[in-house]
Amino acid sequence: MCGIVGYVGNRPALGIVLDGLRRLEYRGYDSAGVAIVDRALLTEKRAGKLANLEKAVADGGGAGLGDGTTGIGHTRWATHGGPTDRNAHPHRSQDGRVAVIHNGIIENFGRLRAELESRGVEFTSDTDSECAAHLLAEELAALGDAQAPQERLAEAMRRVCRRLDGAFTLLAVDVQAPGAVVGARRNSPLVVGRGRGENYLASDVSAFIEHTREAVELGQDQVVLITADAIEITDFDGNPAQGHDYHIDWDSRAAEKGGYDYFMLKEIAEQPQAIADTLRGRLSETGEITLDEVRLSDQDLRDVDKVFIVACGTAYHAGMVAKYAIEHWTRIPCEVELASEFRYRDPVLDRSTLVVAISQSGETMDTLMALRHAKEQKARVLAICNTNGSTIPRESDAVLYTHGGPEIAVASTKAFLTQLVACYLVGLHLAQVRGVMYADEVAAVVEQLRGTPSKVNKVLEQMEPVRELSRDLASSRSVLFIGRHVGYPVALEGALKLKELAYMHAEGFAAGELKHGPIALIEQGTPVVCVVPSARGRGVLRDKVVSNIQEVRARGARTVVIAEEGDDAVAAYADHLILVPPTPTLLAPLVTTVPLQVLACEIAAARGHDVDQPRNLAKSVTVE
Ligand code: M6R
Repeated sequence: MCGIVGYVGNRPALGIVLDGLRRLEYRGYDSAGVAIVDRALLTEKRAGKLANLEKAVADGGGAGLGDGTTGIGHTRWATHGGPTDRNAHPHRSQDGRVAVIHNGIIENFGRLRAELESRGVEFTSDTDSECAAHLLAEELAALGDAQAPQERLAEAMRRVCRRLDGAFTLLAVDVQAPGAVVGARRNSPLVVGRGRGENYLASDVSAFIEHTREAVELGQDQVVLITADAIEITDFDGNPAQGHDYHIDWDSRAAEKGGYDYFMLKEIAEQPQAIADTLRGRLSETGEITLDEVRLSDQDLRDVDKVFIVACGTAYHAGMVAKYAIEHWTRIPCEVELASEFRYRDPVLDRSTLVVAISQSGETMDTLMALRHAKEQKARVLAICNTNGSTIPRESDAVLYTHGGPEIAVASTKAFLTQLVACYLVGLHLAQVRGVMYADEVAAVVEQLRGTPSKVNKVLEQMEPVRELSRDLASSRSVLFIGRHVGYPVALEGALKLKELAYMHAEGFAAGELKHGPIALIEQGTPVVCVVPSARGRGVLRDKVVSNIQEVRARGARTVVIAEEGDDAVAAYADHLILVPPTPTLLAPLVTTVPLQVLACEIAAARGHDVDQPRNLAKSVTVE
């Protein structure tokens, strides 16, 4: 949610900041702006996508912003105040001395705004963020000239942070402290990029990956001051603090489209590799499943008597699949909850509860808050995450990283499949530690998992009929998805993809539930996508879905049936048949989801939508 970039060095900041914003635009694209310190403080901001800002900068010849070597930039996902020029960041203080950009929500902004207004400050936007600019200017004025300008800027920022409630990443520049950018974070992401004679700040590393692969992870409630040659970190009280240095193990090509029309298409195509990468090295020579960071003992895991999975959106659907696998393999009761609901219903948690938090970004605020609630109740927390060094894994007792590489398209694809793989591995690990599965049984499932990349590849090679079908379905009013068992979360995921990308009415249902109400939605020609389980698993499950398909057909539905190769009998019930390679029942979502991703992407493209940046959304949701 909102992308933030800061740069200090010896090169003109404008181009570097705009490039960084381009890479972060997936985080929010309602408006964008930059501030450059070049003898004066120069700002430009525009509503709409980054292209509008770039045009405004180009129309001004770029010279309007000078060639200062210190700058900050912001791409916004609106919370307080609509997406207009005046609400775009940066926000300047009334005296024009400082410019501030912000990600998050300042919860006490109403009171702070009233206070500032009572002292004569006039606000020029409807945002909560503008408060921070005025407060910073007040603190700088109060500090006077006693300190060097850069230290003064850091101290003023600390004082402001101590007054703010809520979640925030803030970056600020002060015209009286050229050559410095100050940043602060609480419950919102911010990383430092360590360059040579230049340093960077950003919401995520993709903003500076072109320039450096050395990063510094900041802790909670820290302020960082960067200059061309130094990175100084303190807590909000000014005590020196340490960041955690790490090397980024992917390069800038991973964050580019690589010849595809959309990031989403590239990420769909990368899925076989992403699965293989997530599986690599997970089975030790002695036959044990290995996680990445484990601050829990085997005894802790043996003591677990209940598993809760918390996640949002697509990650929640991965959790729903995980429930089937974890209960089947471990015989421990497992519940899946929307992270945004979890803590508000007072779940019963204790030391022997394992909470599994699934998040691609590792920054989703709803999931983070669920995790913190679980920890307060003494539950153990295991994170499944794709982003190294992000907050959710940092605050967890154990971590399994998915190795999907950066996911830029807002719609999650390869993150979903790698989350599924990670969930299976967690289930196997639990079963192994608790002694309910033998090493050879675990190894057999891992072997089946290792076979899935080639199956996904095969599905991808056969997508032309799905593309054609998509063009045909693009004018439908509504599309329904049905499935049973692990096919049910697949149906929900197919519907979510279609809603978020094609802006169509789409709903996923447990196939058996249709007759309890939703079947009334079916009209002549309504497309119904049916996910059919393998007859080799529980035959009765497959037969029940086939009955459900007949029920919808009898009411006029146009059926799109996803079934296993060799299930010849199902063809009779399909207006369109999509066959996928035979896959063990619990692992089937790894292949059955793929056609649904392609379907949503192609329908959205056929309807003329921006596939990578759907309206109203942002990739990383760092507000509750
Ligand atoms: O980063 P996270 O995995 O925590 O994100 C969770 C959801 O916001 C995310 O999966 C969202 O539903 C996707 N845009 C769906 O495609």
